[in-house]
Amino acid sequence: MSRKLRMGLVGGGPGAFIGPVHKMAAELDGKIELAAGAFSQSAERSRAAGAGFGIDPARAYGSYAEMMETESRREDGIDFVVIATPNHLHLPVAEAALGAGIAVMSDKPATATYDEALKLEAVVAKAGLPYGLTHTYAGYSLVREARALCASGKLGPIRKVAVEYLQGWLSRPVEATGNKQAAWRSDPALNGPGGSIGDIGTHAFHLTEYVTGLKVTGINATLRRVVPGRRLDDDCDALLRLGSDASGTLMASQVAAGERNRLVLRVYGENGSLEWHQEDPNSLSVKWMDGPEEIRHAGGGYLGADALAVTRLPGGHPEGYIEAFAVLYREFAEAVTAWKAGKADVLPATLPGIEAGVRGMRFIERAIESNRLGSWVEF
Ligand SMILES: NC(=O)c1ccc[n+]([C@@H]2O[C@H](COP(=O)([O-])OP(=O)(O)OC[C@H]3O[C@@H](n4cnc5c(N)ncnc54)[C@H](O)[C@@H]3O)[C@@H](O)[C@H]2O)c1
Repeated sequence: MSRKLRMGLVGGGPGAFIGPVHKMAAELDGKIELAAGAFSQSAERSRAAGAGFGIDPARAYGSYAEMMETESRREDGIDFVVIATPNHLHLPVAEAALGAGIAVMSDKPATATYDEALKLEAVVAKAGLPYGLTHTYAGYSLVREARALCASGKLGPIRKVAVEYLQGWLSRPVEATGNKQAAWRSDPALNGPGGSIGDIGTHAFHLTEYVTGLKVTGINATLRRVVPGRRLDDDCDALLRLGSDASGTLMASQVAAGERNRLVLRVYGENGSLEWHQEDPNSLSVKWMDGPEEIRHAGGGYLGADALAVTRLPGGHPEGYIEAFAVLYREFAEAVTAWKAGKADVLPATLPGIEAGVRGMRFIERAIESNRLGSWVEF
């Protein structure tokens, strides 16, 4: 297909965080254009956002149901829907899109609850349409390098993983003072039962499994509500069992005052280890038992094929969050194009999909159960 794929965005209205990032990232490689949207629950604000994005005013809809209905009947209708709303809408919007024969790129977490995720898994399987999940960090070239390094076996059997995702922005009760992003995230009805464990813990969990190739098999988690009056957890410490022989720790906190977006992964094998920091994403440290430490730089010609395949710029020209998002969009666009050409099973293994979505929701459910029991639970 030579034309650009047309995207319809749900969410991303005035003042939203991630919706506009999806637009920037999706359009970066020139393969996708924003054509339509239901940007807000208010029709007026949806139209205002559509005007801001410069789309045809007739395609800035008052509701996502109206968008699916109208777009699925247009000859030049949207090819896929992006879900960038609060979590409680992820399932109904995905169901509406897939039911109308439209592919889905959803932001994480896949749904608000684990039961919903199982339902969504069945809907995706039945529809047979591409479904992608934007675990953004999977799009960084050095995360791909780290993943390939683990898969190569050069680090030796993996024995230990330490992952932490620390933010400080919920250190005070900002949900009570008009912070839009905090308001829905601290409301169980709109967010789901997992607070920080869902909002950022799922990213840490996904990154761990994505890079190591190991599956979490057991978890012992402590969840806390540090800020008085908060209805969901804002801090989590968890012990992990990975595969049959590895163990790890996962820390996720949104009350780590002073931290901005400190996502750090360390993986230890028998022969060496790796360390990646999201706030310094263009460097990957690899330490060897029997050799000196290496710092691998994004864009270096010596990197593996997986990292180079998602590199846009020569070394020393930093790529970041939007480019990582755009990598996932490039892979998703290729999957949608392949699906339109009649191919099945089009999602590449590098792009998170419904399986990752269900595992992420299971992680939240298991962490909450472990906290309730005060003990280990099987995954
Ligand atoms: N991948 C990432 O790194 C990342 C980062 C931030 C947020 N997220 C996820 O993205 C989603 C949105 O988060 P956010 O921080 O942008 O929230 P936000 O509050 O900034 O934006 C949510 C948007 O959804 C709109 N909305 C609400 N109800 C709607 C409806 N019925 N129809 C259409 N639009 C509606 C709101 O008007 C708003 O524009 C969440 O699921 C969050 O977990 C992912």
